[in-house]
Amino acid sequence: MKEYVVAVVGATGVVGKEMIDTLESREFPIKRLIPLASERSAGSTISFNEKSIRVEELTESSFEGVDFALFSAGGSISEKYAPFAVKSGCIVIDNTSHFRMDPTVPLVVPEVNPGALKDHKGIIANPNCSTAQMVVALKPIYDAVGIERVVVSTYQSVSGAGKSALEELENQSRVNLSGGNYPPSVFTHPIAFNVIPQIDSFLESGYTKEEMKMIQETQKILNDPAIRVTATAVRVPVFVGHSESINIQTKQKITAQKVRELLENAPGVEVMDAPENFEYPTPRSAAGQDAVFVGRIREDVSIENGIELWCVCDNLRKGAALNAVQIAEYLIQS
Ligand code: A2P
Repeated sequence: MKEYVVAVVGATGVVGKEMIDTLESREFPIKRLIPLASERSAGSTISFNEKSIRVEELTESSFEGVDFALFSAGGSISEKYAPFAVKSGCIVIDNTSHFRMDPTVPLVVPEVNPGALKDHKGIIANPNCSTAQMVVALKPIYDAVGIERVVVSTYQSVSGAGKSALEELENQSRVNLSGGNYPPSVFTHPIAFNVIPQIDSFLESGYTKEEMKMIQETQKILNDPAIRVTATAVRVPVFVGHSESINIQTKQKITAQKVRELLENAPGVEVMDAPENFEYPTPRSAAGQDAVFVGRIREDVSIENGIELWCVCDNLRKGAALNAVQIAEYLIQS
């Protein structure tokens, strides 16, 4: 079997580490792994396939001889370095928002729109974590009865904001429990024992950038600019696992039972929906898992064609690292 040289940009970050773990656990055929980060962590080591590998500093010439580069070091790093990777003949799978809405860059969730991959010109974008899990759950319903409108509220974990955010929640919780004050620095308000209705910055419309990402990326991935989506994105004091309350107005009537059946047979989805046994997904049960979990499926009593559901996923896996590795797997198989 052919083996590939794979670089991970942002290898010391929360998503970068998950990318490396995912490449290892899914036995991606790797000839050489190149972990890249800033000069701050160059020289430190990461473990891969029981070997210790030195982290290298990201430079313009990091991509010579590299087949795939998985980027997760922030939008400005992707903007600057992805073109060098492409010039070296490498395929970039970018987890930042930088290229997502570029019409020449496919935005791909392999369970939903793998066909978009064939048009890539060296860069493929990985969607926002909240969008990725939502479209996996929406797609079977979309295909069966059409979707008019989606109203989503998210409950997003702090790992989506990186390793300094994880440290802030942990330290702030500890200090607060012992009666002390721990001022926020990553978030705009204390995240411990709190809920913050702001993810990313505000736009003139009153929406946040995160909310607009969910709206625009959903339209792009489903290839349907007419689907109406509105979102409220909220940060909650959970370490790993994003949850979403999703209200779906379908074009034709569909029963909750039919939605359950569709989702039970959908790729990448696991239905956990037995309220009589208090069975529904939670971030604690989804953390460390690959699937998008769906529960609380019910018909909306307030409109004719409405479905309510609760969708939970490990934001570092399907929301980021797993989706990126699945894209690379798809490319080497096709
Ligand atoms: P470093 O550890 O050297 O700062 P997170 O999102 O979890 O905070 O991680 C961000 C990732 O992006 C880290 O691996 C970080 O590396 C990397 N990174 C940040 N700035 C740069 C940069 N200027 N060049 C390369 N990698 C960077």
